Amino acid sequence: MPDTSPALRRERRSTRAELRHEAIGRLVGPLLRAPGPDGGAALVVDLGGGAGTLSVELALLGHDVLVVDPSPDALAALARRAREAGVGERVRGHQGDARALPGLCGGRAVDVMLCHDVLELVDDPATTLAELAAAMRPGASLSLLTAQRSGAVALRAAVGRVEEALAALSDPDGRTGPDDPLLRRLDADATAALLGDAGLDVVEVTGVPVLADLVPEAVLDSSPRARESLRRLELAAADHPDLRGLASHLHWHAVRR
Ligand SMILES: C[S@@+](CC[C@H](N)C(=O)[O-])C[C@H]1O[C@@H](n2cnc3c(N)ncnc32)[C@H](O)[C@@H]1O
Repeated sequence: MPDTSPALRRERRSTRAELRHEAIGRLVGPLLRAPGPDGGAALVVDLGGGAGTLSVELALLGHDVLVVDPSPDALAALARRAREAGVGERVRGHQGDARALPGLCGGRAVDVMLCHDVLELVDDPATTLAELAAAMRPGASLSLLTAQRSGAVALRAAVGRVEEALAALSDPDGRTGPDDPLLRRLDADATAALLGDAGLDVVEVTGVPVLADLVPEAVLDSSPRARESLRRLELAAADHPDLRGLASHLHWHAVRR
């Protein structure tokens, strides 16, 4: 169901970034409609939330957001952004990683856990997912965004970076080479297994984006009509099981057992 909140559509972005942001809003919005256990605001934790692009928007919707991130620069930007948006009191930043979660929520279990573009950077994804699950109440939602190996291979091949495509395909961690900033890209079945092992049941898997990264930017820049068509194509392709393998990222909605 599309989330039409103006807060989730606030910033001006490139077409690809806009499509990605819209897709994430559509996917995360419904998870937040269930209030916290006392009927009040949900407790949302954003692991690796960075400078808070999403967290501040969620706080604007009335939720309490805790961002846990090892980067002091990102947390400083988060605090500034939250203050400027008038939600400084609803957004809390903590410098650390998932190991810090037990001591951070004041005995309150997490209602919605976000972990976007972070499993690619942690030492051990299985441990991180177990730590996230342990902080969530039973029935709580996890919104997980992961870089997908097959999508990276397709994209590198499409732009002629064939050696990198080959490396990503053959490397056990899906890396494109020694300079790859990511420690890994996950295959879909490996992610599903990791989630299951952590006690998280998968509800839905969606490509974010599926095809947009494969469309030349020049085409999008030259024509508003092409942008609109791509938006419709992305919507149609997001859940398509055969096309999902092309997606640069997968969004996983999983629920704590
Ligand atoms: C690619 S950014 C994603 C930011 C944000 N989640 C988003 O989707 O826009 C990755 C973030 O993960 C953080 N990070 C790196 N290692 C981490 C770890 N071990 N635990 C938690 N966060 C980590 C980085 O500081 C950075 O803010």
